[in-house]
Amino acid sequence: ADALATVLTVLERWADEPGPLLPILHDVQEAVGYIPAHVVPNIADALNLSRAEVHGVISYYHHFRTEPAARVIQICRAESCQAMGSEALLAHARQHLGCALHGTSKDGAFTLEPIYCLGLCASSPALMLDDEPHARMTPERFDALVAQTRR
Ligand code: FES
Repeated sequence: ADALATVLTVLERWADEPGPLLPILHDVQEAVGYIPAHVVPNIADALNLSRAEVHGVISYYHHFRTEPAARVIQICRAESCQAMGSEALLAHARQHLGCALHGTSKDGAFTLEPIYCLGLCASSPALMLDDEPHARMTPERFDALVAQTRR
């Protein structure tokens, strides 16, 4: 969904409440996943605050994110996937993302984790991207998946 449209709906909901900045920021983060910089002016204007004041509150609370959270890639390391090359796939993933296992890619977009059997052993090697399983993974398909998810 369009972040700005979502934010305008949130602002409307809180229009007649006193001191609504924190609940508005909570609602925006919950609906959009983070608080995009480009919606800060709308929030500031609606509450008669300066942009600096809104930025100040966002950066004061660790709870608020100004970037989307990393997507989680879990590569299966259990027996069947290992037999079908999941360790090589994992090495490829580490190199492609530029991070170690349990690490986050250089651009902050992906976190790399192990997982132990996804029930897709017949189609090994398998991985999970967020909550979506992907089977018969190859380095080429991995790169394509990452590129497609980044967009
Ligand atoms: Fe990887 Fe079962 S061992 S899905």
